[in-house]
Amino acid sequence: MQENNKHPLDMLNRSEIESAVTILKKDNPKHENSSFSYIVLEEPEKATLRSLSLTEELERRVKIVGVDENSEGFEAEIDLVEKKLLDLSKISNDAGPTYTLTEIYSAIQLTLEDSDYQKALEKRGITDLSLIHIDPWPGGGFVNKNIKKGNRALKAISFLKDSPKDNAYARPIQGLIAHIDLTEKKVVEIEDHGLVDVPKTHARYDADGQENLRDNPKEISITQPEGTGFSVQGNQVSWEGWKTRVSIDPIEGLVLHELSLNDRPIFFRAGMSDMVVPYGSSDPMHSWKAVHDGTEFAFGTMANSLTLGCDCLGEIYYFDTHKLTFDGSVETIENAICLHEEDFGIQWKHTDATMMGYNEVRRSRRLVISSLSTIGNYDYGIFWYLYLDGTVQLEIKLTGIIGISAYHQDIHKQGQDFKITDELASPIHQHLFNMRIDWDLDGGANQLFETNVEALPIGEENPHGTQFKAVATHLTKEGDAKRDISPEKSRTWKIINPNKLNKIGAPTAYKVLLGNTPTLLSHSDSPAGKRASFAKHNLWGTPFKSEERSGGGRHTVMHSGEGGLDEMTASDRDISECDLVTWHTFGVTHVPRPEDWPVMPVEYCGFHLIPVGFFDQNPTINLPPSCSKKSKSNKS
Ligand code: NI
Repeated sequence: MQENNKHPLDMLNRSEIESAVTILKKDNPKHENSSFSYIVLEEPEKATLRSLSLTEELERRVKIVGVDENSEGFEAEIDLVEKKLLDLSKISNDAGPTYTLTEIYSAIQLTLEDSDYQKALEKRGITDLSLIHIDPWPGGGFVNKNIKKGNRALKAISFLKDSPKDNAYARPIQGLIAHIDLTEKKVVEIEDHGLVDVPKTHARYDADGQENLRDNPKEISITQPEGTGFSVQGNQVSWEGWKTRVSIDPIEGLVLHELSLNDRPIFFRAGMSDMVVPYGSSDPMHSWKAVHDGTEFAFGTMANSLTLGCDCLGEIYYFDTHKLTFDGSVETIENAICLHEEDFGIQWKHTDATMMGYNEVRRSRRLVISSLSTIGNYDYGIFWYLYLDGTVQLEIKLTGIIGISAYHQDIHKQGQDFKITDELASPIHQHLFNMRIDWDLDGGANQLFETNVEALPIGEENPHGTQFKAVATHLTKEGDAKRDISPEKSRTWKIINPNKLNKIGAPTAYKVLLGNTPTLLSHSDSPAGKRASFAKHNLWGTPFKSEERSGGGRHTVMHSGEGGLDEMTASDRDISECDLVTWHTFGVTHVPRPEDWPVMPVEYCGFHLIPVGFFDQNPTINLPPSCSKKSKSNKS
């Protein structure tokens, strides 16, 4: 056991990461020149954890994933207890690991040094390269014709800054796209779609960049004079009967493990299996974009270090995390996960109209576990909320800077590109997230049901056409469990434990209530449709298999598609009663608006998990009255 590691799901500490790199390099000196993507803990499965005595020495295995000096992806499996390399294997060149920072820097440098690129800038009157901002995007999907199969590649678009502190995206250099072959270490093509003036206007979003600031809203101070209601032990959090473990996965970002309520398991693991941002515009700056921010850019390794009082307000507990950087060193992301309590309005209320206005009211509270990652121009927050009534909510917050072009009437099309200033247009696009939930509802095997509420036909038993009913269907095969939302039928999905009955004799259950959400609009034969198959449906169900963690396939860099959930579910496995995994796709179709500029106000999407017969009655009935004595009335 390493220092501070008290549980097999605890996040890797600094010395473990250092030790893994040392073990890899000891017998494989050529990895001195490798560039690392990430390190990931090989998490034990639920059966292993159940049988484990926490007093014995715990197995601790990790994988280091990266790109070697020949630009070939590799995976090294290392046993940290035995201090040995268990396996070192190549990753197929058709689907590589996430881009490393070395590759990103290299793409920027190769582009800046390219003579064709410099000539294209000169044509636009740009000679000072120090103010050029280059934005690399994945080279997969639409692969440039000059990139040899199996090579790693990036595409880059460019912007011109006014000053080093300028908004890097404010002034697009329209239609100039560099194609970089990372394996051959050269620029293979400069696409130039003609001259559009570089926009002149600033778009700073920092306080100094504003003409004037409004008077601050009055301060709100959130204090808990009696201390917080939660407690933390290692990576485990306890609050109001809830228990869970937190971690940052390099691909998935914030993950919750072993979520239970009153010692009854709900799910074993929930994390973002991948996400995709497909663009729907014909503008050559954007038409090819469909980035997988998880499996192409390692969402979790881009976690922000959060600032007290700015990112989170109140009495905060922070978790740090450690990541392996491209050169084999370890970086600590301080305050990567934020934990705090929030008042959430009323939990329940009733005024008895027959008894002179007598009423009972209780306040709702939630525990917030959150992290934020920045991937290029966008910033995404993963927010988990645990409520007193057994509800679990996942909310993704989207903010940052929208994709942008210099507006030109011959390029930009109505309905596909939206003018957001006189000089700028932003393309229509989607952000689609896929959350994987490895269920453990009340322990043991689970089942998946769909419920639709349907109107009954007029007939003898429904003479006035007023009746409707909820119809539940058991989804027993993977093929039946590829489902989409249907708000007109109040469609929900229910995970049940058929062997655990509640007081009224019904199986205990949680339902998944997905918000109003799109699925993928790209054609299923398009590169985005093939690569991001997970985004074709709002719900997928599979039997648990430890290697099935990513909805788009484990590695997607330069991948042509057909991986992920399409492939996983191809044999139509039985899910009628099993160790159930559900996959939920949701997101936003983003039709840009002027208010999204120069920085986008947060947009929200996600889902709720709601107990259905998990309890025998309202579990918050025993909440004490909690009117705050500190609240003041301004009534004279
Ligand atoms: Ni957007």
